[in-house]
Formats: sequence, C-alpha cells, structure tokens
Amino acid sequence: MSKKLLLKNDHIPGINTLATYKENGGYAVLTNALKNLSPDAIVEEVKKSGLRGRGGAGFPTGMKWSFLAKPEGVPRYLVCNADESEPGTFKDRYLMERIPHLLVEGMILSSFALGANTSYIYIRGEYFYVANILEKAIDEAYQAGYLGKNILGTGFNLDLYVQVGAGAYICGEETALLESLEGKRGNPRIKPPFPAVAGLYGCPTVVNNVETIAAVVPIIEMGGEEYAKIGIGKSTGTKLISASGHINKPGVYEIELGLPVEEFIYSEEWCGGIRGGRKMKAVVAGGSSVPILPTELILKTVNGEPRLMSYESLGDGGFISGTMLGSGGFIVMDEETSIVKNLYTFSRFYHHESCGQCSPCREGIGWMERILEKILDGRGTLADIDLLWDIQSKIEGKTICPLGEAAAWPVAAAIRHFRPEFEAYVTNPDSIKDIKHYYRLKN
Ligand SMILES: Cc1cc2nc3c(=O)[nH]c(=O)nc-3n(C[C@H](O)[C@H](O)[C@H](O)COP(=O)(O)O)c2cc1C
Repeated sequence: MSKKLLLKNDHIPGINTLATYKENGGYAVLTNALKNLSPDAIVEEVKKSGLRGRGGAGFPTGMKWSFLAKPEGVPRYLVCNADESEPGTFKDRYLMERIPHLLVEGMILSSFALGANTSYIYIRGEYFYVANILEKAIDEAYQAGYLGKNILGTGFNLDLYVQVGAGAYICGEETALLESLEGKRGNPRIKPPFPAVAGLYGCPTVVNNVETIAAVVPIIEMGGEEYAKIGIGKSTGTKLISASGHINKPGVYEIELGLPVEEFIYSEEWCGGIRGGRKMKAVVAGGSSVPILPTELILKTVNGEPRLMSYESLGDGGFISGTMLGSGGFIVMDEETSIVKNLYTFSRFYHHESCGQCSPCREGIGWMERILEKILDGRGTLADIDLLWDIQSKIEGKTICPLGEAAAWPVAAAIRHFRPEFEAYVTNPDSIKDIKHYYRLKN
C-alpha cells in the first residue's frame, strides 16, 4: 500500500464535519504550530520538504513563499486557487468535497506563516456545491476559534473568504484570478511585477493550489525533512492524480511520486488496466495542456528506462519524447480512440476559453480548431497538417499568459507522435476504420 497523507481519512463517514475531523487528529497540527512555531520556522519546514506547487507548473512552494515582499504597513494575502478547470483534472474538487477542513487548516497554517490576516479561496463557478461545503467548514472553524480574532489565544487574526468565479478557465491563471477577485474581467496581467510583489489590490500575495496548501498540514506534522524522504529526487511527497479515460478504475488517487507509470495504469491498486481488455494507445499525463505521448513513450523513456510518475521522469526527453506531470490529470486512451477528434475537442475548449487579449491566442486557436474541423469533415489536405504545425509554433511564447502554450503543445505533440493518423484522415480514411471513435463531423 502506498503512503497516504492527504486522503488517509477520506473514507471516514462524516469527515467533512469539524467534530469527526477533530476526532481523527484534525486541527492538532495547527494548534501545535500556532503555539510552538514561528512563521519563519513554518516557511523553513516547507522549504525543507521540497514541496512543489501542485497547480501545474511545479514551482517550489517554500521558494515562492520566501519571495513574498514584506513592506511595513502593507497587508499581505494568501489566495487559494480552486479554479480547477483544466480538462482531465478533478482532484481538488475531491479533496474539498471530502475533507474541506484539511484545506481550511492548511489555509490558516499557511496564512500564519506568510503573515496574512485576510485570505481567499477562489473557486470555479461550476463548483457552487463545493463552495457551500467550504462555507460550512469555515463557519464551523470560526465557531471553534480557529478563525477570526486572536485565534486560540495567540494574537493571530485571520478572516477567510470563499469567492465563487463565473466558470472561466482563464481565471485559473493566477493574475487573471486576482483581477477577477478584485471584481474585474479576468484578464491575465503582464508580469513582472509578480503577485509576490504586487498581487491582490497591489499588495504582496501568494497564490497556491488547493493540494499545495493542504500538503502543508502533513509537512508541518511530520517535518520537512521526513516529507522529503517520500517520493523521488526533486519530486518529493505524494501527489493526487485524477485518473480518467479508458481505464477500469477511474478516480482520484494519492500516489507516492516515483511510482512507475506502468504500475499506475495496470495495477489493481490504481487504474486496474485498460477497459474491455483493449490495448492502450496514448496518455495525456498532466491535464489537457501537456503533450500527449504514445504507449511506448509513456511507459518507457527513449533510453529504455521505466517512466515514473515524477516531474523529472515524465519530463525526460523534453517535448520531443517526454511530457509533464502538470496538474496530475491523467487521461488514458485506448486503441480505438481518434487522436484527431480528441485534439479537436481540446482546441475547441481552448478557443472558447481564450480571454482574447493576445491575438496569437485569440485568432490562432480558433484557426487551429477550424482546420481540425475541416480535417474531420473530410475536406482537409496534407498542407493543412503543415499549417496546423505552423500556427501552433507561432502561438507558443507569444502571449501574456501560458494559455497560448496550453493550446499549442497538444497540437504539436499530436502531430509529432501521430502524424500518420492525420494523413490517413486526409488521404485514406478506409485505413483507419478500426478506430471506432473514428469520426467525421457529418456522419
Ligand atoms: C490558463 C491557466 C489556467 C490555470 N488554472 C489553474 C487552476 O485551475 N488551478 C491551479 O492551481 N493553477 C492553475 N494555473 C496555474 C496558476 O497560474 C498558478 O501557477 C498556480 O495556482 C500556483 O499554485 P502552485 O504553486 O501551488 O501550483 C493555471 C494557469 C494557466 C495559465
């Protein structure tokens, strides 16, 4: 059995209530830390743990926290990113639904460490029912004296608010999120300045993912050094994986980083193999924006090493033969899947979600969507495949925020690894009839 730190109690009935959470050790870490640890000591433990942000980019959390500017007389904010809109990612929802107090405890602990007296959880609009669960947990925490003025008699004050977004993927990008939280349209800001210097209302702000903030609780409980012993290399600790697609057991799993990908897909403890005994064709390992890999490359690196569930191993080979751990949205596709149709679906999503500020993203993604539609519709040409390649290469790196890359990378990887399938759609559709999800728009 793999070690569980975040979901160790998720099976306990009533764990969403304060009473049951406390009966199972909840808020003990916070109580002890507020009384016995200084804010700097908490930051130090998080640094030692090697925890990397679980929102997608994997930036070291302790380092991010130590960048927070601390000008005299200016408030600092902690904002939890619960926007979770990346297709294939649903682990934050699971955590907040099941164990809302773990996030609340993590928010209080992290706010104390950062010197924030007002903090926010920004949650996507579609998760309105999860927002209600969080609100209830926060009310309970206020009543128990974990939030509000003079928390547990320590002199530390904290108000925690839940803000529901309006269902825009772009509001998961941290500066768009801050704009939205300020009541404006969610357009990403040009950086620098980074939020650590000028974030919410122009004040120093840390934005962290739900899972990142929840992980602070076990880190402080066991100590940073112990946490760093779990996992592999610079991929320390455990990671929540949202597993979906053509597997026998889709769901949210907590794995120790370093687990072999093959074991994760085929073991009964995890995904339980491919549905219907079919063969696997490809995997999108870290949410829809990371490069898709065919079976041979997701299971092994080009050097023949078993591929592991870690930032480094999944990234081995760069974008030529590797991918990213990203947000841990692990989408498995069987041999009957149409890669072209899948890509069209992703491109439609990114086109719809572009905020429209940067023309390469606003115009380019829609253009890619239309070309993919043309190919699926039987009107494509070989030149269209080259055009797709050309457009994606002109989006990457040319936009204010990485939504451009999020849309471009899947296109580049699909063509890089599955070009013959694109060509067959154009020149010889009969040859791909065994792709049952083979798809033409008009049939
Ligand atoms: C278009 C876009 C959408 C994003 N959506 C999310 C999201 O839903 N949740 C999240 O935690 N990070 C998301 N991010 C990453 C955030 O900008 C930011 O890096 C993250 O919240 C930092 O938290 P971490 O350091 O704990 O990972 C998104 C980034 C982009 C460019």
